[in-house]
Amino acid sequence: MDNNIHPIFDRLLGRSEKENYLNQKSKVLWFTGLSGSGKSTIAQGLEKLLFSEGYFIQVLDGDNTRTGLNNNIGFSLEDRQENIRRIAEVSKLFADSGIICLNSFVSPTIAIRNMARTIIGDDDFIEIYVNTPLHICEQRDVKGLYAKARAGELKGFTGIDSPFEPPQQPDLELLTENLTVEEGVRKVFNFVLPKITRT
Ligand code: ADX
Repeated sequence: MDNNIHPIFDRLLGRSEKENYLNQKSKVLWFTGLSGSGKSTIAQGLEKLLFSEGYFIQVLDGDNTRTGLNNNIGFSLEDRQENIRRIAEVSKLFADSGIICLNSFVSPTIAIRNMARTIIGDDDFIEIYVNTPLHICEQRDVKGLYAKARAGELKGFTGIDSPFEPPQQPDLELLTENLTVEEGVRKVFNFVLPKITRT
């Protein structure tokens, strides 16, 4: 076919067309932090707020990925790496469809998060450290897992007998001790708004 006649065909459904359609710029917001730090709660609150403002979003977390896509994956460091590799690849596909991803994963090591950043691409990856001290996560113990880990019934639990390496230069850090959930959500919202809004 003559390229000069139908040049648009091969790029008609590119990312920018989809971003235009959704009237947004897609990004991957990567929430990292200890289990029970409030990552998913903030991501879910942010999803609602962004949606009410007309943005189109996908939330990914352990609940909706470890039950399906990653239901054959455990918590050794190799398994976590494979968990995050798949999540990062999926997020990249969402971003290519113009969709904003809110990802909430412990993703405990610098190497694991760097891998996610490399897969997703520097321009699209926004690292948000939900910094809640271990003793508070443990106090809350929403799922009762810290108690099990302390009792030795659960091996390799992040923060107890498996490492958590805090991000050294996160794009945004939430010190949740001094914040309500609403304040945390609002902080992330204000931070990302210029990055996801078409000008
Ligand atoms: S990650 O390390 O691979 O990124 P992910 O975010 O998917 O972890 O899952 C973490 C959630 O799984 C925790 O919030 C907790 O509910 C549960 N969990 C079960 N076992 C462990 C463990 N050994 N370490 C951390 N979290 C665990």
